[in-house]
Amino acid sequence: MTIPHASHQPTQSPASDSGDEPPRPKPAGTKSAATELVEMAQASYRFGTSTTGETFGIPLDGPPVTFMLRGGKHSLRARLADRYFATHAKAASSTALTDALLTVEGIGQEWETELHLRVAPDGLDRSTWIDLGDHTGRAIHLTEHGWTIQRQAPVLFRRTALTATLPDPVVGVGMGGLELLWQILNVEEDDRPLVAAWLIAALIPEIPHPTLALFGEQGTGKTTATKLVVSIIDASPVPVRKPPRDADAWVTAAAGSWVVAIDNLSTIPPWLSDSLCRAVTGDGDVRRRLYSDNDLHVFSFRRAIVFNGIDIGSLNGDLADRMLPINLERIPDTDRLDETQLWPLWADIHPHVLGAVLDLAVDVFTQLPLVELAERPRMADFARILAATDNALGTTGLDRYMGKQGSLAVESLDTDPLVAAITGRITSGWSGTAGDLLVQLTNLDEPTPKDWPTNPRAATGRLKRWAPVLRKAGWTVTDDAGQNKARIVRWTLHPPQDQI
Ligand SMILES: Nc1ncnc2c1ncn2[C@@H]1O[C@H](COP(=O)(O)OP(=O)(O)OP(=O)(O)O)[C@@H](O)[C@H]1O
Ligand SMILES: [Mg+2]
Repeated sequence: MTIPHASHQPTQSPASDSGDEPPRPKPAGTKSAATELVEMAQASYRFGTSTTGETFGIPLDGPPVTFMLRGGKHSLRARLADRYFATHAKAASSTALTDALLTVEGIGQEWETELHLRVAPDGLDRSTWIDLGDHTGRAIHLTEHGWTIQRQAPVLFRRTALTATLPDPVVGVGMGGLELLWQILNVEEDDRPLVAAWLIAALIPEIPHPTLALFGEQGTGKTTATKLVVSIIDASPVPVRKPPRDADAWVTAAAGSWVVAIDNLSTIPPWLSDSLCRAVTGDGDVRRRLYSDNDLHVFSFRRAIVFNGIDIGSLNGDLADRMLPINLERIPDTDRLDETQLWPLWADIHPHVLGAVLDLAVDVFTQLPLVELAERPRMADFARILAATDNALGTTGLDRYMGKQGSLAVESLDTDPLVAAITGRITSGWSGTAGDLLVQLTNLDEPTPKDWPTNPRAATGRLKRWAPVLRKAGWTVTDDAGQNKARIVRWTLHPPQDQI
C-alpha cells in the first residue's frame, strides 16, 4: 500500500460554494466558520476513507497514526471543534461543524484504503504486522525469519476506544517465557499447546480462528483467563464484554477490537451462534451505518473470539465445529491470587510472555510448510498451526483437539430433534429416502417436537447440515446423489457400533 501525497487533495471551499463560476475568494475576515474548519483540517491531516466507509485523517507531520473523523472523544471532529475554540475563543456552531465534516468526508473519498485492527497481513511475503497501539505508530513485523519492532508499518491501522498499548516485547526470551504465562493462566498442561496455537493463529488475520471457549465452575479463573488471553495480543481498557442482547449489539461490540471476548455466556441463542460462526469464517454482517438512518453497510469482518461460561447448554453443530473448548480446573484456595496481586504480576511478565509468543510464532511459521495433515477438520488452518506448534514444543495438542471435536459432536447431536431421533432409534444400518426416514421416525402417538421437519425437503436439508457432525460422532452417512431408478436421493446411515 502506498500513502498518496497530500498535494492531490483539492483545497476546495466547502459545499456552500456552488455554481458554474469558480468561487470568488471571500475578503479576509469574512470566511465562514465551516470554511475555516475545513482549512484547519487540511492544514494538519491527509484524509481518506476506509473500506468500511468511515473517513479518517493521518497527521501530515509525525507518525502515520490514523484518527477517525467521527465518533467518540478522540475523533477528529472533537479535535477540530476544540482547535476552533482555541483560535476564536468561541465555539463553532453545530451547522458549521456539520458542513465542514461533510466537506472533509468528500475530500476523503478520493483515497479509499483498508484500515486494519491490531493485526494486518503483509500481502508481499505472508508476514504479519502487529500494531503496538501507541502514539509512535510503531508495529511488530513477524515473519518466519524472526520478529522486529519497526518505526512504521506499510499498512494503516485503525484505533478504537478499545485499543490499548501493548508493551515492547522482550527479545530472546524463547519459549521458556510461556512458563511465566502458565503460572497465572489456569490451563492444565495437556491443553496448553492448544491455547498457545490459538494465540499464534490469532496473529494471522487471513485464516479462520476457532472460538476459544473457556469453561469451568465458579471461581476457576474464567474471567481472569479470558482477560489475560485478550491482553497478550490485543490489550484493551475493557478486555471483556457482557453477552450481546441482539445481532446489532454483537456487531457493535465486535467492530471495536480484533480479539473479542464475551464474559459469562449462559446460553447461545441461534442468532448469536450464527453471528459467531460468521465472525470466525469472515462472512459479512449487515448493519445500519451509525450516522445515517437509511444507509446499510455490509461489515465483512473476521475476528478472534474468546468466551467463557459455566455451562452454555446445547450447542449448534456449526458452532461446535468452530470451537476450541478448554476446561479450567478448580484453583485451590491456597494457590489463589487476589486481583491486587495478579494484575501487577501480569504487567511485569506481559513483555516476556509477548516475546515468547512471538518466538513461538516464528518457529511455527518455519514448521508450517512441513506440516501435512492426514485428516483436515473444519478448522483446517488452525489444525495445521496446532500441528506446527506440536512440532515446535514436542507436544500432542492435535490429538487432543481431534478428541475434543469428537466429544463436542456427540454432545451436539441431541440439539436437533430429527438428529436426536436418528441417534436414539436407528440402531443398525438403515437406507432409504429422506421421506422414508421422516415416516419412520415421526411418532404419531406424541406431540410433534419443536423444529421437527414437516416435509421430506426439510428433512433432506437437516440431513445435509448434520451429516458432517454425525460423521464426527462416528456415524457413517452417505447418499447416492439420486443415482437410482426413482431418481430420489437415498441415504444410508450406520451407527458407530455398526460401521461398514
Ligand atoms: N491462575 C490463577 N492463579 C491464582 N489465582 C487466580 C488465577 N486465576 C484467577 N485467580 C483468582 O481467582 C479468583 C476468581 O477468578 P475469576 O473471577 O477469574 O473466576 P471466574 O471463574 O470468572 O469466577 P465466576 O464463575 O464467579 O465468574 C480471582 O480472585 C482471581 O484473582
Ligand atoms: Mg467470571
